[in-house]
Amino acid sequence: MFARRTYEKRRLALRNNFEDGIILICGNSLSPANYRDNTFPFVQDSTFLYYFGLNKENLIGVIDIDKEQEYIFGNELTMDDIIWSGPQISLGDQCKLVGVENLLPYEDIKRFLYEVKHSGRKIHYINQYLPNNIINIADWLEIKPNEVNDYVSEKLSYAVVEQRNYKTPEEVQEIIKAVNVTREMHLKAMKIAKPGMKEYEVAAALENVAKSKNCTLSFLTICTVNGQTLHNHYHGNTLKEGDLLLIDAGAKTESGYCGDMTTTFPVSGKFTPLQKEFYNLLISMFDKASELIRPGITYKEIHLEVCKVLAKGLVEKNILKGNVDEIVEKGVHALFMPHGLGHMLGLDVHDMENIGEVIVGYNGEAKSTQFGLASLRLGRELEEDFVFTVEPGIYFIPELIKKWKNENKFPEYINYEELEKYMNFGGMRYEGDFLVTKTGNIRLGETMVKSPEEVEEVRAKAFK
Ligand code: GLY
Ligand code: MN
Repeated sequence: MFARRTYEKRRLALRNNFEDGIILICGNSLSPANYRDNTFPFVQDSTFLYYFGLNKENLIGVIDIDKEQEYIFGNELTMDDIIWSGPQISLGDQCKLVGVENLLPYEDIKRFLYEVKHSGRKIHYINQYLPNNIINIADWLEIKPNEVNDYVSEKLSYAVVEQRNYKTPEEVQEIIKAVNVTREMHLKAMKIAKPGMKEYEVAAALENVAKSKNCTLSFLTICTVNGQTLHNHYHGNTLKEGDLLLIDAGAKTESGYCGDMTTTFPVSGKFTPLQKEFYNLLISMFDKASELIRPGITYKEIHLEVCKVLAKGLVEKNILKGNVDEIVEKGVHALFMPHGLGHMLGLDVHDMENIGEVIVGYNGEAKSTQFGLASLRLGRELEEDFVFTVEPGIYFIPELIKKWKNENKFPEYINYEELEKYMNFGGMRYEGDFLVTKTGNIRLGETMVKSPEEVEEVRAKAFK
């Protein structure tokens, strides 16, 4: 948690966007996994955490613009809470730590919102994703659950994004902490993975690094010898000589900030010559992005320039043919990288994705529907203090290649015969986290291994 002043300043800045009405920010509740008392780990709503700082379930934050008052609705500790969960600082005192003077019982929110609604005042809230909150808001506002997101306040959505997209120095410090733990998770995997091990053994070892640093995970770990499956959460394969192991994993610090990193390394310890060629191409894509990141350029332009590096590399390998600019303009290269180059990073690994990708990543401008570009979460002009990922990939997805071949898609650009040789190649991705500075960028965190030589040097430790 930051100092009280941080939350007071954030709420004041938010409030200053509005003339009247109230802002309603719902915290999250515990979600049962298989019965009420056996829940998924608690993850606080990031917007609630940003403005109200309390990492605790069943709290509702309200900013009353007309009355210049702030409230938290939540229930004070009971003796039962103390018996089962131990003595804790009272909720009233926790509210004071984040500068909120008014703590009201959770049950009072219904009456409070009834009065606001029936006095004709506007209630601003952002898009809701948690079923509990959807049902509650429907109940409080006397609407149907499936109507809740029809009444989202666009003004509030833009105002929140306008604040959360710019990371303050204290936020950047937290993200750096998360990235450094994330880096250690990846290095741990590189130092222990060996042929014969199961993917889940490597995943357990790297996740334990996060746990041992008092962090949770930013998202479900990807640790797979089938890196061509983009979000592969299966961990049951045995690592074999010649495989590439792709790990996409990150730590979330106690304060909620996330790291996100992907590495790909050879199970055998050394890349095969062919793997090394593609890995070098992958790193040249990553380096192209880091050369270009600065205020004023759009992330979409960077994405497209990186795709040109990929296309050029594939033309040199005789997998693609023709003009590189045309290949990228038509989206042919997306056969080998169907996802976007990156996304905003902060309290969420895909920061604020719940508020809306077009608002966060495109400032309201329409997103392309072209295959590949349609998956680009961030396209807007970059500004100082934005933090986001850069994660180029190269994949040979046999099912997709076969589909395109059967449809005879882009025969003038794709050498399908040559492509047959790569059907079992798999996939690779490399990812780092960047901050935009006044004139350029900084890759956040301590220096991370990147080149094939650096990767092989760390991998050698697994075989000592
Ligand atoms: N690191 C997972 C993702 O970016 O989707
Ligand atoms: Mn990512």
